[in-house]
Amino acid sequence: MSKLNVVILAAGAGKRMQSSLPKVLHTLAGNPLLLHVVNTARLLLPHKICIVIGHGGEMVKQLITGDDLDWIMQEQQLGTGHALMQAQPHLDKDGLTLILYGDVPLINLDTLQKLIITAQGKYCALLTAVVEDPDGYGRIVRDPETKAITAIVEQKDASTEQQSIHEINTGIMLVPNIHLHEWLPKLENKNAQHEYYLTDIIAIAGRQNVPVTSSQSTNLWEVMGVNNKRQLAELERIYQKEQANKLLDQGVSLADPARIDVRGELVCEADVKIDVNCVFEGIVRLSDRVQVGANCILKNVTVAADTTISPYSLIEDTEIGENCKIGPYARIRPGTRLSNKVHIGNFVEVKNSRIALGSKANHLSYIGDSIVGENVNIGAGTITCNYDGANKHQTIIEDDVFIGSDTQLIAPVKIAKGSTIGAGSTITRDTPGDALTLTRVKQVSFSEWKRPTKSK
Ligand code: UD1
Ligand code: CA
Repeated sequence: MSKLNVVILAAGAGKRMQSSLPKVLHTLAGNPLLLHVVNTARLLLPHKICIVIGHGGEMVKQLITGDDLDWIMQEQQLGTGHALMQAQPHLDKDGLTLILYGDVPLINLDTLQKLIITAQGKYCALLTAVVEDPDGYGRIVRDPETKAITAIVEQKDASTEQQSIHEINTGIMLVPNIHLHEWLPKLENKNAQHEYYLTDIIAIAGRQNVPVTSSQSTNLWEVMGVNNKRQLAELERIYQKEQANKLLDQGVSLADPARIDVRGELVCEADVKIDVNCVFEGIVRLSDRVQVGANCILKNVTVAADTTISPYSLIEDTEIGENCKIGPYARIRPGTRLSNKVHIGNFVEVKNSRIALGSKANHLSYIGDSIVGENVNIGAGTITCNYDGANKHQTIIEDDVFIGSDTQLIAPVKIAKGSTIGAGSTITRDTPGDALTLTRVKQVSFSEWKRPTKSK
């Protein structure tokens, strides 16, 4: 196969987004629009990916990274042809150049591969679409007899007759580099918008008898662009519906496919059940029979088989073992590893901690920077005091420890194997194993004491 160059046009300001953020940095499914396009382009294993930037270009460069990307600054946006002229010095002498748009995020790999095949390594190939309302798009002009494509005419330059054409230019096209190098310098801006139209190369191809082939995307939404927040929201819903359908096809049970958001990659094994309004970010893996209750948010989380996550839990950068019970209302923060059969109950916050087999913190606790052994029971209201105002310290709780309710463990501290801590203790020193430790003052009662009464 011939060498492939990809040029992604991303210089536009996107005024209609009503935002100071460059258009291509607005997010769809948690990722910038441009990143969707770059990632799809990468799957084609191209020789080069050139990105033409303009408005907010520096910001775009900082957020979309990779050694495989060539950045091209287009100071003034004088048209799509002008954008390609800026990229021209970066393009190979031969091979093919695929032109993509940074604001058309959902273009599919299959569709692009199909387009590449139609070009047969030497033709121009256009991705076209037949739409009900062609308003605003460039129209595909074909020879009435041979049906061969002879030109693309922009809306503003089109005759009334041409405006009635429903086959439109999606903008995505493939051009052999030898022709592109020859044709780009020939482009002029003698048109209604005084822009250098890339689309004018099609008429030149026609005049030089270079065949122009075409193909269509599998789904119309693949070629839909984002110009405003409404279109962005529409594409987001389309994308989420697609993700939900994929999950359903894989056998995942979704309480409502319209109420799940996947902003990254969600990988599910068999018989996974997901209730309504869950959000999955980054890479989330759910093993066999995992259940996720309503309104949970999971970001970069791995969950092993048979674990249940109850409603309203927020879990980030965490590994969870088999047969665990998490939530409702659990907050598990980055750096946490839970072994099998661990219970983390309501209003328990765990941060950067390891909790071993069968240990439980069922109610109202904070466990931070801790190493918790096996078969430990952490009573309600227990707090690891890991921060002294300047530094974080570690708490070690060894196997078979029982910590009574409302205990403070002042880190650094170690609770030795088999320790029992009496409820309401403030533990400041390491405890001996297999002993009861408590710091409670003796209970006293004052029988003469009277409750204060309201003064008149
Ligand atoms: C372009 C096509 C039109 C097609 C339509 C599909 C041309 C002349 N017309 O029209 O046939 O139907 O897209 O949406 O190509 N851009 C730059 N630098 C520039 C100009 C544009 O990077 O100087 C980028 C924009 O950021 C955008 C893309 O190119 O991502 C398309 O530009 P836009 O101005 O939207 O082109 P249209 O007039 O819509
Ligand atoms: Ca456009």
